[in-house]
Amino acid sequence: MAIPVLNGAEKLNPICGLGYGGLNLRHRSFINKGLSSYGRNYKTRSLIPRCSLSSSRPASQPRFIQHKKEAFWFYRFLSIVYDHIINPGHWTEDMRDDALEPADLNDRNLTVVDVGGGTGFTTLGIVKHVDAKNVTILDQSPHQLAKAKQKEPLKECKIIEGDAEDLPFPTDYADRYVSAGSIEYWPDPQRGIKEAYRVLKIGGKACLIGPVYPTFWLSRFFADVWMLFPKEEEYIEWFKKAGFINVKLKRIGPKWYRGVRRHGLIMGCSVTGVKPFSGDSPLQLGPKAEDVKKPVNPFVFFWRFILGAIAATYFILVPIYMWIKDLIFPKGMPI
Ligand SMILES: C[S@@+](CC[C@H](N)C(=O)[O-])C[C@H]1O[C@@H](n2cnc3c(N)ncnc32)[C@H](O)[C@@H]1O
Repeated sequence: MAIPVLNGAEKLNPICGLGYGGLNLRHRSFINKGLSSYGRNYKTRSLIPRCSLSSSRPASQPRFIQHKKEAFWFYRFLSIVYDHIINPGHWTEDMRDDALEPADLNDRNLTVVDVGGGTGFTTLGIVKHVDAKNVTILDQSPHQLAKAKQKEPLKECKIIEGDAEDLPFPTDYADRYVSAGSIEYWPDPQRGIKEAYRVLKIGGKACLIGPVYPTFWLSRFFADVWMLFPKEEEYIEWFKKAGFINVKLKRIGPKWYRGVRRHGLIMGCSVTGVKPFSGDSPLQLGPKAEDVKKPVNPFVFFWRFILGAIAATYFILVPIYMWIKDLIFPKGMPI
């Protein structure tokens, strides 16, 4: 997928405001005239990110599978089939290589942490460039990590259980922080990005790969039921607030989508930032709100989990729908 790179919030501001309701009416009509119709106007799409025309639920109101306990149980089952159904539809090897390219994995001796590393799919991309013994995979799901442990190229990686919002690494520890497809389950994404800043060495780089919010109404509905689909400008705001400089966002997507982003993407962008000073992030936050070990009401938990899992199913079907469209529509035609 050919990908534009957006530098910081400045390039987003002409169309998207930061936060919610960032579009005024003039901007809406501007968009409706086609300037943001991804795929129809390739000249403008590299400059103007497409924003949702309505507000998403605030990141501070977690969706049905955006609590740590729910994510834990979700992956208890999904880990069984994860590599077989998630990767082919949403997170292919070429997307992974594209997304890791801005992380500058340019030295085999770099110390790298892969946070929310799961079954190690992204780590397999990292160890192409960095010695496995220098790479730590962290995840809150022992079931996901069990799959990573079985992969031969990851045998020398350190594999540990932990929480992305409270990393068990010292301050100024790593040269690179990578996290792919995990932020959507963090109840407090800003806290996770602040942690990314803290554990990096001065000059170290964070590379966070995550979903992007849909613009099509039905996809927006299911996205808001399932998990966090941040907008591009939210990522940039979180990075900047944490203290990162040189913040960039690169769009990624499966090649059979032909650049279509209206259904959102589970892996839709790779955001990078550089840590300019040693020490902790300048951002002050209160105590962590949630722990995976915290007890929950089983009845509420059950219904939240079922509704979240149904919404997730919609996003398993979307790539199949797009794949069929790609087969049917002549090459070069927008889909
Ligand atoms: C979609 S998977 C991505 C796995 C892997 N990074 C990849 O590229 O395939 C999301 C992972 O994030 C983990 N996760 C969710 N919340 C987490 C948290 N608070 N701390 C650590 N890991 C978390 C899940 O257990 C799951 O393995």
